[in-house]
Amino acid sequence: MEHDVSNLLYRHPEWYESVYDGAGHAAGRLAETQFQAVLGRLPASLLDIGCGTGRDLEYLAALIPDVVGVDYQQTMIDYARAQRPGIDFRTGDMRTLRLHRTFEAITSFGLALTYIHDNHDIDRVMTTYATHSVPGTVLILETLDPGKLDLLPARFTIPAMHATADAVYRHHPGHQLLERTRVWRLDGEYVRDSVRFRVLYPQELAHYLDRHGFELLGTHTVAGEKTAASMFVVAQYRGEA
Ligand SMILES: C[S@@+](CC[C@H](N)C(=O)[O-])C[C@H]1O[C@@H](n2cnc3c(N)ncnc32)[C@H](O)[C@@H]1O
Repeated sequence: MEHDVSNLLYRHPEWYESVYDGAGHAAGRLAETQFQAVLGRLPASLLDIGCGTGRDLEYLAALIPDVVGVDYQQTMIDYARAQRPGIDFRTGDMRTLRLHRTFEAITSFGLALTYIHDNHDIDRVMTTYATHSVPGTVLILETLDPGKLDLLPARFTIPAMHATADAVYRHHPGHQLLERTRVWRLDGEYVRDSVRFRVLYPQELAHYLDRHGFELLGTHTVAGEKTAASMFVVAQYRGEA
């Protein structure tokens, strides 16, 4: 992960889950529908990259027998393992991950790919997707929709802590980065966190995917405040580019 990420919620995965309430499992349901549409069935195996606490993987693991979740942060993986003990969670970096096996589906939800800022690193992540694919593998990525950035949430709440934060977004167009700064009011103190998201335009994303052997099949939206600015990209692996 880029070194300039500071996120209060990553230090407290239980708070992360309450802020990004997965009720309804919207991303998991979209993936289920897309797997059926593309494959005519559910995949037999699934790799979820940037799985965080594993909340989406939990939904999909009830449908798919062989699932693996990978995240860069040990705190998130420790929490995921404790909360979802039946699921295989590993620590790893999507730029270098090599599990020496393939999957029929790969997902990456919660804007995980936008944490990769550099073009060369995006190519490395695409190589990771391809290395873990066979022809026919379905890839579903949640990225930012450049046309909907004004729909990003302006206020965040940690219900259990009665804590709130207003978010301020700042564009860095030269680098296609969007910086989000939040100041949390927590136990009478102020805690600041910030993250920068890479904004990928659809043509650019299609180009990266094509260069690495994936065909872009379509983009989809998921209703909900936290996903209003998201674009769910569905692609399929053709084979080595
Ligand atoms: C906003 S969270 C989304 C987590 C989960 N997919 C969800 O939707 O709840 C983004 C996740 O991407 C992970 N991430 C960022 N950079 C990564 C990298 N280089 N390799 C693997 N995971 C990474 C972070 O650790 C974080 O858990």
